Amino acid sequence: MKQFAVGVFRELGVGKGVFETRIRAETERLMLKLDSIGGSSICPNLMELFYIAVSNITCGITFGTQFDYDDSRFKAIVNVMQTYSHSIGPSAIFLTSRLLCGLPFGPGKATRGCLSKFKEFLELEIEKHDSKNACSAEKSSSTTFVGAFLGELNKGADENFNKVNLITCCLELFFAGTETTSITLYFTILCLVANPKVREEAQREVDAFIIDNGMPCYGDRSKLPYVQSIILEAHRMLILAPLGLAHEAERDLQLFGYDVPKGTLLVPNVGSLFMNPEMFPDPKTFKPERYIKDGHFEAVPDVIPFSTGEFLYASFK
Ligand code: HEM
Repeated sequence: MKQFAVGVFRELGVGKGVFETRIRAETERLMLKLDSIGGSSICPNLMELFYIAVSNITCGITFGTQFDYDDSRFKAIVNVMQTYSHSIGPSAIFLTSRLLCGLPFGPGKATRGCLSKFKEFLELEIEKHDSKNACSAEKSSSTTFVGAFLGELNKGADENFNKVNLITCCLELFFAGTETTSITLYFTILCLVANPKVREEAQREVDAFIIDNGMPCYGDRSKLPYVQSIILEAHRMLILAPLGLAHEAERDLQLFGYDVPKGTLLVPNVGSLFMNPEMFPDPKTFKPERYIKDGHFEAVPDVIPFSTGEFLYASFK
């Protein structure tokens, strides 16, 4: 399923210009919404707006749909995602225990409630996508994740392409992508609010760029070293997933001289790297200039907000 999803995303242009256009279009919609609230007012629901913007992008690749910022049904779904994230807590460690997940009280009960509401939403959207596709002369299978999945399901060649796996893949995309990105955006804004000098410096850099070049795109990031540094420093201080995601040893291996039997749960303490005072003096202070060397942005390998995936473990034979 993972290989299939990665392959479809590549075809849909994730990580390339096509996808960036989608993100920029959503950003413009978000800016319009913020403008309508008023530039000088405090925005009470900024986090909710970030959630809607980010999940709208996921909706675009998943079903090819987009929701309005005032759509009450979508707002309720966004709320379900927020409740889910609060229930599972940092690093979702309790999800690794079937016993804890299955308890009739506490976070297990709350997360099961959220998942079933979200599943209903997905089933309806998949159904709408399916019937739209059936009526349309031009099939959208190549333009959305659900379309590509249903294409494989209808071929019937591989039993892994079934409705349960389709729902599970969509659930994972929404839950893995929305909270992570929205919180990071929100936290970055808070860092800018709390550090007016950093904000002014960033504004100067962005204004100077726009005067000469117009709106920046992802390819221009090296020309905005201070902005890049702000993003990395926000990732470092947020420590969004202090324990990464739990992995399981696929085989017997040795880690730092310890025997680790196959099937052992591995939980990397990634967060300890981010606050290491030897690498980051005064680690609790927001200092984007840490990453500026001779006027250029230089990433520090210890800041790995997306962890290293399987690569980390692949290095231990
Ligand atoms: C600021 C944004 C994000 C951060 C900081 C973040 C962080 C992470 C981390 C730390 C992991 C665990 C990696 C590992 O231990 O192997 C992970 C896994 C994952 N993330 Fe993200 N993520 C972000 C955004 C997204 C987005 C936008 C999506 C998709 C729409 C996404 C989808 C996933 C998926 C599917 C996995 C599981 C991958 C696997 O099973 O190997 N993430 N993410």
